[in-house]
Amino acid sequence: MNSPAVARAPRVLMCAPTHFQVSYEINPWMSVARCVDRDRAARQWETLRACIAEHAEVVLIDPQPGLPDMVFTANAGVVAGNRAVPSRFSPLQRQPEERWFTEWFASAGFSIHSLDQVGGFEGAGDCLADTLLPIFWAGYGTRSRVEFHARLQSLFGREVVSLKLGDPRFYHLDTCLAPLQGGYLMYFPAAFDGDSLAAIHARVPQQRRIEVDEADACDFVCNAVNLGNRIIVHRASASLQRRLTRLGFVVDTVELGEFLKSGGSAKCLSLLLDELP
Ligand code: ARG
Repeated sequence: MNSPAVARAPRVLMCAPTHFQVSYEINPWMSVARCVDRDRAARQWETLRACIAEHAEVVLIDPQPGLPDMVFTANAGVVAGNRAVPSRFSPLQRQPEERWFTEWFASAGFSIHSLDQVGGFEGAGDCLADTLLPIFWAGYGTRSRVEFHARLQSLFGREVVSLKLGDPRFYHLDTCLAPLQGGYLMYFPAAFDGDSLAAIHARVPQQRRIEVDEADACDFVCNAVNLGNRIIVHRASASLQRRLTRLGFVVDTVELGEFLKSGGSAKCLSLLLDELP
């Protein structure tokens, strides 16, 4: 008798916060005047890594000196199957990361599809696969440019739904929207313009939409790592946790305050490399 195939744990890319710091300001959360506690950041990152490792295989890219934001591997690029599209960062300060992430994707066996233009596509920070629909949700207007969406669509052979970001605090799509297992979509409505909300409503029925309020959004609750029924976040209100629990999710909170100083949380610190079953 054949034994059932054992599903391989999905891989998640992370980068140790060895050089993490807030040494420039490229989003409204960052202030060079507020210093980062490196030891605390290291402990927070280790806890997140251990939490993710319970549900996935964590793979690492070497941190590089002088690149404090490389810890946010969600911005390495976007992957689908064995294809990887490395990011083209808008802020000059992050552009040197492109080379390291591109080299890493190549060494891990991904086929690299580079965007020719400079600047304006920040990877899985702005491009998220839905878990039910064969689409990508893609943010633009702050750090990524909508001009890249057609290219992504033809490359991945999947509809790319463009969502315009209007609130500078939610400068990457993954800061205000999270596709969750089972076709649920958790998001902060005020971060989007009317057409973008209409695009969401047209595709996701009300019972699968999880709208969060401003307090939860500012705690980066949408910056969630979702593996199976687990949701890993920095913080979530009791009422939102109850709602997610009722839907069958288990919420793990991991203190990530040092990374919020840079405008990032759990999801920014990780890049899912394999599609979930
Ligand atoms: N300081 C980083 C930046 O502004 C944070 C990146 C957060 N990443 C994310 N996927 N939202 O680029």
